[in-house]
Amino acid sequence: MFSARSIRNLIICCTIIATVNGANKPVIHYGRCNVGSEAGYCQHRHQCWEQPNVDFNSASRSRCVSQVHSDLVCCRRAPVVEAFAMQYRLQLPQPGVCGNSEFDNRIVGGENTSITEYPWMALLRYTNDGAEYDSLCGGSLIHERWVLTAAHCVTSRDADQQLRQVRLGEWNTTSSPDCQVFKTNRICAPPHIDVNIDRIIVHEQYTPENNYANDIALLRLNRSVTFTDFVQPICLPAASNSVEYAYAGYAMEIAGWGKTDQALFSVSPVKKKAEITAISIASCKVVYPQLVNGQICAGGDTKESTCRGDSGGPLMLQDNFESSGNFYLTGIISLGSSNCNGVGSPRVFTRVEHYINWIMGTMNANSS
Ligand SMILES: *[C@@H]1O[C@H](CO)[C@@H](O)[C@H](O)[C@H]1NC(C)=O
Ligand SMILES: *[C@@H]1O[C@H](CO)[C@@H](O)[C@H](O)[C@H]1NC(C)=O
Ligand SMILES: *[C@@H]1O[C@H](CO)[C@@H](O)[C@H](O)[C@H]1NC(C)=O
Repeated sequence: MFSARSIRNLIICCTIIATVNGANKPVIHYGRCNVGSEAGYCQHRHQCWEQPNVDFNSASRSRCVSQVHSDLVCCRRAPVVEAFAMQYRLQLPQPGVCGNSEFDNRIVGGENTSITEYPWMALLRYTNDGAEYDSLCGGSLIHERWVLTAAHCVTSRDADQQLRQVRLGEWNTTSSPDCQVFKTNRICAPPHIDVNIDRIIVHEQYTPENNYANDIALLRLNRSVTFTDFVQPICLPAASNSVEYAYAGYAMEIAGWGKTDQALFSVSPVKKKAEITAISIASCKVVYPQLVNGQICAGGDTKESTCRGDSGGPLMLQDNFESSGNFYLTGIISLGSSNCNGVGSPRVFTRVEHYINWIMGTMNANSS
């Protein structure tokens, strides 16, 4: 029986988390640990937020033994994160449940994903007669009943193209069920599922005329979906109000079938992926002077990173450097480059960590 998760659980990895207290940059951690009954992360001693006040004892260090790093301690999660989490009744899936993805073939250029990669990816389905559907945008499953996408995927459609459904568990749009043949085995996924959307919530301050500020929307499904190896949520980063932090230099990933309202990207029947490097706000402002808080930029260096992906689809950061870390949704594909054949123009993404409070507040206000 194929189980990506069982393999993953054996591997200790290092992780990037966003700390909320003062330091807004993600810090690297090396797996989870417990401080008493509280969850913590193994981190370099100097990166732990409680570092100045706490004398880490040998018990704390023994929970985070590493042959490579000698100064790891079990650092509690920053209290702001916990306070934030307790504020809401409806919770998001936590790492371990979210962000699991197979990663057999690491990205080299825009290439086919494997059948189990990025199982949170959704295709948004539009119709004008309720009989025929077009997939024109992407989204990300973040909860059993919620998909996150771009506001422009929801608002800029022709009046007769209504967003009605979300397709989950899709890989090869020209076959069903999907099967992938590997050297020694063949993996088949259950048929994809199309789930009706019963509520669409666009960010109140979405302004397409202002460089697509607040290009974010939530879609509530009319039923909860069951998580499988092929349908799973992605993790969200911790909230941050940092203005300048942009993950500059981090290698991230985008994926999709080339579904976009901008008709720029190459279309593929099979889910594809590409690596894309985040760039600083300052260098992105050279290209997009009107960049606002809540946007980040990546790509522009290769054709793949400029052209791949679905509008509304995810910009993803894997939380480790070796294998099997959880994936975090760092961005939503917002503005594309107008020149898909050339390079040099980065893409603009809605920065998800800026909207965590909006996401949690909106989900909770619409939980019944
Ligand atoms: C990627 O998917 C396409 C579409 O099905 C297929 O034609 C192509 O052979 C695949 N490439 C690889 C390397 O499997
Ligand atoms: C996708 O499905 C089509 C039709 O069954 C098939 O020809 C193609 O090889 C499949 N692509 C991959 C990568 O398996
Ligand atoms: C969801 O939508 C489908 C199609 O309209 C409908 O048959 C089903 O009863 C709905 N489910 C719920 C839980 O409302």
